[in-house]
Amino acid sequence: MTAFALEGYARVTGASNPMVPRPFRVQRVRKETYDTFTLELESANGADGCPFAPGQFNMVSVFGMGEAPISISGDPTKPQTLVHTVRSVGVVTQAICKLKRAGVLGVRGPFGSHWPVEEAAGNDVVMVAGGIGLAPLRPVLYYLLSNREKYGRIVLLYGARTPQDLLYKPELEKWRGHFDLEVDITVDTAEPGWRGNVGVVTTLIPGAQFDPAQTAAMVCGPEVMMRFTLRELEVRGVAPENIFISMERNMKCAVGFCGHCQFGPTFVCKDGPVFRYDQVQAFFAKREI
Ligand SMILES: Cc1cc2nc3c(=O)[nH]c(=O)nc-3n(C[C@H](O)[C@H](O)[C@H](O)COP(=O)(O)OP(=O)(O)OC[C@H]3O[C@@H](n4cnc5c(N)ncnc54)[C@H](O)[C@@H]3O)c2cc1C
Ligand code: FES
Repeated sequence: MTAFALEGYARVTGASNPMVPRPFRVQRVRKETYDTFTLELESANGADGCPFAPGQFNMVSVFGMGEAPISISGDPTKPQTLVHTVRSVGVVTQAICKLKRAGVLGVRGPFGSHWPVEEAAGNDVVMVAGGIGLAPLRPVLYYLLSNREKYGRIVLLYGARTPQDLLYKPELEKWRGHFDLEVDITVDTAEPGWRGNVGVVTTLIPGAQFDPAQTAAMVCGPEVMMRFTLRELEVRGVAPENIFISMERNMKCAVGFCGHCQFGPTFVCKDGPVFRYDQVQAFFAKREI
């Protein structure tokens, strides 16, 4: 990272070195599903919280275990509380999910590009989320709802594997009660008592209420889900330059030094994780990149 970039980082985060974690203390843990937890954190050294733009991520570390990139899933208008939603899949995420109130973890960030929430003003906004992909899109919804008058239709299409895997259930119910918000949910596999949609998230796209010519689409989920979603959005007539995707790659430095997160000619940590689809379309189509 150049001296100029470091200076910029310090200005935004108040931290002097993006490689040095800042301590944050767990204030609250909410169990979302059997393997996914939302942690609310506050600075442990009295410093400011963590101002961020929707879509950005932090490198979150547990002492002695390691560090993992985790999207910020909280409300960007309330930066004093840092919120992360973590799915326990391996060493680091398991250690994060085991933390209880008052536990301390390290945070570097925020890093990366963000969803174009300001640029989307005046347009319809469609968010398509698969699984844990709802976490980096939740800040978008918070932002849009607190600036509701600036946007046309707002649509959230969310798919999970089963009803048990749905994140943020109380909020989903609240959002579904809004007259000025369309929230459509589907599960791959139903369970007894489920009376909602069954099928992959792309099945919700043809019936969603938005004007494709004046829509910003934001998509996050497993790569295979994103591939089919992009195809359906294009079928509906949303232009690739109005579609944004969030990519995941293994990361180490998060500041463009190590090359671990290379995605075609870009680095996901600093050029992404949010990319405009037309700018990565050529190499997104190649699976091994
Ligand atoms: C920009 C970005 C934002 C992310 N946001 C979130 C989030 O909000 N919540 C969340 O729970 N997870 C998120 N992830 C994924 C998270 O970083 C990985 O699950 C985590 O790094 C796994 O580390 P581990 O030590 O727990 O697992 P490991 O023990 O390292 O690995 C467990 C399994 O996960 C695979 N894996 C490891 N890292 C990744 C990765 N980055 N992408 C895909 N597979 C991986 C491994 O190949 C292995 O199969 C994000 C990743 C990126 C790049
Ligand atoms: S994680 Fe090191 S270059 Fe992106």
